[in-house]
Amino acid sequence: MRFDLLTIFPEFFVGPFEFGIIRRAKQQGQVEVNIHDLRSFTTDKHHIVDDRPFGGDDGMVLKPEPLFRAVEALRKPDEQTAVVLLTPQGRVFQQSEAQRFAHNFTQMILICGRYEGVDERVAQHIVTDEISIGDYVLTGGEIPAMVLVDAITRLLPNVLGSATSAVNDSFSTGLLDFPQYTRPASFNGIDVPEILLSGHHANIAKWRRREALRKTLKMRPDLIQALLARAALTAEEQRWIEETQQEN
Ligand code: ADE
Repeated sequence: MRFDLLTIFPEFFVGPFEFGIIRRAKQQGQVEVNIHDLRSFTTDKHHIVDDRPFGGDDGMVLKPEPLFRAVEALRKPDEQTAVVLLTPQGRVFQQSEAQRFAHNFTQMILICGRYEGVDERVAQHIVTDEISIGDYVLTGGEIPAMVLVDAITRLLPNVLGSATSAVNDSFSTGLLDFPQYTRPASFNGIDVPEILLSGHHANIAKWRRREALRKTLKMRPDLIQALLARAALTAEEQRWIEETQQEN
């Protein structure tokens, strides 16, 4: 995957891709992350990227010309390219969306919105996906762009250590992850659940599934509702959920 990030703050990205799995993926050539200064796609003497909104309002809007020029220059004709605008007005980013990008595209141009917004002609004519990372407003699309690069890179082939590493991720199963423990087995008088020390793999798998259900029911009942609507739970699991809900 080739990522091309368009921003008016290129220095924002010094550091975040230099650690751990993303750094290794870059070194191994599985991803390329290029940072582009939007100002370098202006043609005027003062490198102006924004202007006041038509109709009047506070703040500034990113102008269309530098963005159109940048996307035209960066788009690689031989790649499958997604042009993504990071904006709180977008569709909310989900694990399924990360998978869609990881599997179907070889280039992603990520436009980091700023100020009060981006001229709507950009979204209408050159952007393929408007994406938000959640229902809150940040000062710009730089941090959301980092979130996409991270979430998508770890799903690319051979980026994670073992082929199954991403399969049991929270959300991939429709459930949150089960709780994990490591040594020591007893810490300050708090013990690790005994079953995890038993070596009985089938029982451990059963326990993990149950605990994933329990955690999801508590933290994200909306995910449980979605699984029920898709008939993705066993009859026994449905019964357990009903009982647990009645207890609480
Ligand atoms: N820009 C500002 N807030 C944002 C958000 N929540 N998601 C994506 N881009 C943004």
